[in-house]
Amino acid sequence: MKVLGIETSCDDTSVALYDSELGVLENLVSSQVDLHDHFGGVVPELASRAHLVNLLPLIEVLLERRRLAPADLDGVAVTAGPGLIGALLVGLSTAKALCWSARKPLVGVHHIEGHILANLLSGTMDLPATVLVVSGGHTEVVLMSEVGRYRRLGWTLDDAAGECFDKTAQLMGLPYPGGPVIDRLAERGRGGRFELPRPLTRDPRLVFSFSGLKTAVRVLVESLPRPLDDQTVADICRALREAVVDVLVQRLFQAAREHRVRGVYLAGGVAANSWLRDRVAREAAAGGFAFRPPERVYCTDNAAMIACAGHARLAAGFSDPLDLDGFARAPLASWR
Ligand code: KG4
Ligand code: ZN
Repeated sequence: MKVLGIETSCDDTSVALYDSELGVLENLVSSQVDLHDHFGGVVPELASRAHLVNLLPLIEVLLERRRLAPADLDGVAVTAGPGLIGALLVGLSTAKALCWSARKPLVGVHHIEGHILANLLSGTMDLPATVLVVSGGHTEVVLMSEVGRYRRLGWTLDDAAGECFDKTAQLMGLPYPGGPVIDRLAERGRGGRFELPRPLTRDPRLVFSFSGLKTAVRVLVESLPRPLDDQTVADICRALREAVVDVLVQRLFQAAREHRVRGVYLAGGVAANSWLRDRVAREAAAGGFAFRPPERVYCTDNAAMIACAGHARLAAGFSDPLDLDGFARAPLASWR
C-alpha cells in the first residue's frame, strides 16, 4: 500500500510517500524559516500563502521522482488539525482535489498522532507507553495503549516548551526557531553560572508552565551588561536547556511510573533536543523502561509521520469523506 502524506499545519510544507513494505520512500520538506525569522515567530497569513506556492510543485517532484501518477496511490493522508487554520486548509483542499480526481480514499490525520507515530518509522513501540509530546505548540504527556488509543495525562498551563525556547532565543538576539540554536550553544555553556527556576515541579499534578521561565530569562538578560558576550549567551542557553529538560523528564517518568507502562517515548520538534534525549535514555535505562529516540528528521514537522499515521488508519479500514473539515484545535483522545 502506497500512501501520500501532506503536512501544512504550521510553517513547513511537507509531502511524503510511505510504503507498507518499504517504509518511507520520500520525505520532502520546504522550510519557511527565512520567511518568518524576521518576525521572531510564525505569521499565519504568510504561512498559508507560502504553502499555496510550494505544495503542488513538491507533490509533482515527489511523483516524478518515484515515476508515479496519482492513480498509483492507495490513499492520501493529510493533517486535518490542530494547527493554523489557513495553513491546514491549503493541505486539505489539495488532498481532497487529488482524491476526487484520482478516486482515492482520503484520511485526515491528527497532527499529534503523526508526531507520536513518527516513533514507528524507526522500529516498534513497547506499549502501553507514555509519550512526551513537545513542540512549538504542544507540551503534553500522553498515555498510548495501542495505535489509535490515546489519553492526555498532562499538559501545559501556558506556553509550550518549544515556544519557551523560541521566545527566549529572541530575547537573546538569536535566530528563529530558537530550540535548535539554544541546543547547539548550550554545548559550549558552562554549568553553575546561572540558575533558573523549575516551574511547578512541587505541584503533584501532571502540569507544566513555561511562561515564568521565559520571564526569568528576561530578568536575567536585563540584569547583565549589553551586548551579551558569546560565552554569557552560551551559559544562559545551558541553564535554560537544563531547566526545561528537568521539568519535562520529571513529568514523563512520573506518568510512566503512575501508569506502570512498558515504554517511554518522545515526539515533536523539541524531541530533537540532545540533552532531553540523553536524559530520557539514562532514566529509562535506570527505570527499566523501553526507549528509542525518534530520528531527528522525523521530530520536527514532516509529512512522513502523517503518511505513516494515515497508512495505519487506512489499513484499519478508516477513511474520511471529501467534506472533511480542518480543526484549529482538536483533542487527540476524541479524534473520531
Ligand atoms: O514539531 P514542530 O516542528 O512544530 C510544531 O508542531 O510546533 O516543533 C517546532 C519546535 C520549535 O519550537 C523549535 O524551536 C523546537 O521545536 N526545536 C527544538 C529543537 N529542534 C527544534 N527545541 C529544542 N531543541 C532542539 N534541538
Ligand atoms: Zn508539530
